[in-house]
Amino acid sequence: YDYDLVVTNGVCVTAADIAAYDVGIKDGKIALLAPAGSLKGAKTKQLIDAEGGYVMPGGIDCHVHLQEPSMFGKGYSADSFETGTRSAIAGGNTTIVAFAPQQKNLDSVLTALENTHKLAKGNCYCDYGFHLLVSNPCAKALSEFKQLVTTEGVTSLKIYMTYAALQLRDNEILSVLLAARQNHILTMVHAENGDVLDWLTDQLEAQGKFAPKYHSNSRPPVLESEATNRAIAFSSLIANTPILLVHVSDPAAALRIRQAQTTGQPIFAETCPQYLFLTRDDLDKPGFEGAKCVCSPPPRNAEDQLKIWTGLKNGTFSVLSSDHCPFRFEDSERGKKTCITPEHPVGKFKYIPNGLPGIETRMPLAFSANKLALTKFVEVSSTNAAKLYGLYPRKGSLIPGVSDADLVVWYPDGKLGDLEVTNSMLHHDVDYTPYEGRGIRNWPRYTILRGKVVWDRDGEGIVGGKGYGQFVKRSQSILNGIWEEVDEEGPFDLERL
Ligand code: URP
Ligand code: ZN
Ligand code: ZN
Ligand code: ZN
Repeated sequence: YDYDLVVTNGVCVTAADIAAYDVGIKDGKIALLAPAGSLKGAKTKQLIDAEGGYVMPGGIDCHVHLQEPSMFGKGYSADSFETGTRSAIAGGNTTIVAFAPQQKNLDSVLTALENTHKLAKGNCYCDYGFHLLVSNPCAKALSEFKQLVTTEGVTSLKIYMTYAALQLRDNEILSVLLAARQNHILTMVHAENGDVLDWLTDQLEAQGKFAPKYHSNSRPPVLESEATNRAIAFSSLIANTPILLVHVSDPAAALRIRQAQTTGQPIFAETCPQYLFLTRDDLDKPGFEGAKCVCSPPPRNAEDQLKIWTGLKNGTFSVLSSDHCPFRFEDSERGKKTCITPEHPVGKFKYIPNGLPGIETRMPLAFSANKLALTKFVEVSSTNAAKLYGLYPRKGSLIPGVSDADLVVWYPDGKLGDLEVTNSMLHHDVDYTPYEGRGIRNWPRYTILRGKVVWDRDGEGIVGGKGYGQFVKRSQSILNGIWEEVDEEGPFDLERL
């Protein structure tokens, strides 16, 4: 055989190009891109007829929480590495980057990483990497950053400006940024002012306002734009250390990011489907129903959604990630309902675990919305994630001989008719989706990981194996040459302040 798999009759889309061509796959790699139809008669073990549907690099979801301990209040991550990555492939993803959480009582980030490896190893359906989640940046932890990069293949970390169990003080943030800069680690920042939202929460509770919808009042947009501005200021203070603002929801924060980018600062940003498809009204439902849409930052309003779409189109946001952070609803012990008591039948919003399931719906929702050019869709759902997080060009592209044969194949336009998202069609271990009943027009038909079909929607669905997904060691970020600029600037120097 010349090929293990040939995908014929597809319209291939990368972040750069759209053209009809056939894809020849051998030994898990893209082997050949050839004129449309020319590989139909090739000697191949398996042939897929894409029937004019789009063929793209597989989705890369670089913001995923799986099997994390209860750190965000009550509740436990509903998805394990097994169920979360199973859901990922059914939604067109071939790689995820999940968090390896360091808890405050742990002084080592390497131990945190090792603990997370144990949870993931042998359990994943797609390829995976880890970001360190740093909550205790003590001297020992900072001294381990070098090893994260040089031997562990972990080149990014996340810090929090909120959540008691995770929040860093400003001086701690600066220490992390400095150590990250010295080791070429990209720092992801959760920008919300935790002290202010705690104060607002107390004010709301003092007035008897406990319902899920008040989660939104406790975290108004200014908390996000203030913290975003502070993070950008710290990046510039530490000699322009690259940072990435995660899950941006507030247009004022996006504008501040855009402004910093325009002045040449290495500021990157991510947004998520919940800020494109949900609004604060989704939290205002009878009883406790609104808890299904409680995440942080909270969904904003319809005009804000339009501005966030604009930010994706104009490049303010490099990536669209899910921030999959699922909690079960009908689980009074471990899920969203942990906060319901006889005294508080609608719970207390401050105890609702923050986060939504969305690993499987990210690609179908964004594709179906038809708001991004196809090349842009590939860029923000795959290619930029690969570049930002040091996976490119092995992932996120279709370069013969170089890229892994990671593909998502969509149905030809119109073939599926009108579809609706329902929780019953999803493969996560969560008892709801915040997108129940939403109309969509396409769904990944095949997901192919290193040349093997792992999702076949018209066949048996999940056909990949648990454990087929491999840990991928990542290199440093290459998006916009960020570390070259840092090296040009030279080390952080107090004399220059
Ligand atoms: O509500 C959210 N986003 N939960 C997930 C944790 C985080 O901050 O990303
Ligand atoms: Zn966050
Ligand atoms: Zn998150
Ligand atoms: Zn350097």
